[in-house]
Amino acid sequence: MAITGVLRPGHAQIRVLDLDEGVHHYRDVLGLVETGRDAQGRVYLKAWDERDHHSVILRQADEAGIDFFGFKVLDAATLDQLEADLNAYGVATHRIPANDLMETGERVRFEIPSGHQIELYWQKKDVGNCQAYVNPEPWTKESETGIGPIRLDHCLLYGPDIEKVQDIFVNVLGFYLVEHVVMEDGKTDLAIWLSCSMKAHDIAFVRHPEPGKLHHTSFLLDSWEKVLRAADIMSMNKVSIDIGPTRHGITRGTTIYAFDPSGNRFETFSGGYQSYPDWKPIKWTWEEVGTGIFYHDRKLNERFLSVVS
Ligand SMILES: [Fe+2]
Repeated sequence: MAITGVLRPGHAQIRVLDLDEGVHHYRDVLGLVETGRDAQGRVYLKAWDERDHHSVILRQADEAGIDFFGFKVLDAATLDQLEADLNAYGVATHRIPANDLMETGERVRFEIPSGHQIELYWQKKDVGNCQAYVNPEPWTKESETGIGPIRLDHCLLYGPDIEKVQDIFVNVLGFYLVEHVVMEDGKTDLAIWLSCSMKAHDIAFVRHPEPGKLHHTSFLLDSWEKVLRAADIMSMNKVSIDIGPTRHGITRGTTIYAFDPSGNRFETFSGGYQSYPDWKPIKWTWEEVGTGIFYHDRKLNERFLSVVS
């Protein structure tokens, strides 16, 4: 098997100020499928084409933001090995028992220098993608419900010490750097895009003084037309759009940034290129950061760097 180690982003637990409002947004407007509710009152959802039980967990809280972001790894031996590697590197971990999250096995939780809680796990119940495993149809009504993304694709997190974060992701967890933006000094990274796959990014970070902040969770659509359809659905539902539809220079994806009712930014995007771990990272200079982030406007909007949850 060529794909080993960390397989992909698996889940994000997002804090919402009002659960009903949050469920309406993520289920009815974004179009995720609700798959369960637990004794703590958390609501579990998945994109239609995902097969594991959930990828988004909503928790009602007094403050918006992200509780943790989890990656699925290949198997139990991989989980044990990566935990040992993290500990040997100096990252403290702790185990969260199976079924703390519905239909999910034991998780290894750790804090990274940017102040975010990251998790690894290898077991989550396969509930299928709304299709049969034998002779499936190419279309399902869930794919047309709301915006109807294919999967939770990645997240962008804001916090300090992103060079230390990069070292852990690259040298312990097996990710590679795909693109980065350097600051005015020409050396220090403002932002990094990291991949554990052939995707242009599975997780990204922007340097920010306040630890543990969420810039956006991102949901994949299968075409630019679907991004435009997403904009129509957002407007119909009075969703607050941050920017777009537009295109990123970095990763080349077509995109919309918008906010859920609690102020958590989310992205619906399509496209971008496929990457390989042996490719040399692409560098963006400080002068061209606007073009990198928003290719058509060629400048950052003030919100990109300042509004996080
Ligand atoms: Fe993104």
